[in-house]
Amino acid sequence: MSFIDGLTKESQIADIGCGTGGQTMVLGKQAPGSITGIDLFPRFIELFNQNALEAGLTERVKGLVGTMENLPFEEEELDLIWSEGAIYNIGFKRGLEEWRKFIKPGGYIAVTEAVWFTEKQPEEISTFWQAYPEIDTIPVKVTQMQAAGYLPVAAFILPKDCWTDHFFKPQVTAQELFLKKYRGNSTAEDLIAYLKHEAVLYDKYGDFYGYTFFIGKKI
Ligand SMILES: C[S@@+](CC[C@H](N)C(=O)[O-])C[C@H]1O[C@@H](n2cnc3c(N)ncnc32)[C@H](O)[C@@H]1O
Repeated sequence: MSFIDGLTKESQIADIGCGTGGQTMVLGKQAPGSITGIDLFPRFIELFNQNALEAGLTERVKGLVGTMENLPFEEEELDLIWSEGAIYNIGFKRGLEEWRKFIKPGGYIAVTEAVWFTEKQPEEISTFWQAYPEIDTIPVKVTQMQAAGYLPVAAFILPKDCWTDHFFKPQVTAQELFLKKYRGNSTAEDLIAYLKHEAVLYDKYGDFYGYTFFIGKKI
């Protein structure tokens, strides 16, 4: 948050692809202003609004069902667009370009994106990431941010435990329950096999890629 200035209690913030709002509630406690969380899935938004209630944030934090391709905001309405682990759904470049019109001049965008840490990667991991061809190095992403009309204010790599402790570990129990529920269903089994493979690859190649926060100021 120290990279983002000018927020007041009148500020309008959007968290795009907010999920159930774990990060939104943290943001809501750190930043003044009102936050609208947007997610495609009604169940996530239901849980998001329950979480806001439990966090005592309902006056300032509200979840809405919507799509990141068609955001329900006016031009230049927002002081800050926040999006963690979600912009890949629309694509980094497209998201930065299309969302820019909703931000006030001098407002900010803060997004996380998967990046390569090295120019070259072992074949096994680069093949796996062909599923997201937009993955690229930090300098390329910073250049895309600048080209989309933002001053790149900061880029910093998230710690590895964001993936290991907060993404892969909690999946283990959920995967077991899911497999029990859908025993014999090959689509469910393939999905879990894919997720387990993803965790194994991160363990093996975590020095080559990871999530990075990119913060830009609309100029
Ligand atoms: C990996 S989760 C990240 C959730 C949350 N931001 C976090 O950091 O925990 C990606 C989220 O994007 C949402 N999503 C996917 N496609 C979307 C779309 N087209 N419009 C809005 N949300 C979308 C998913 O439902 C999911 O909640």
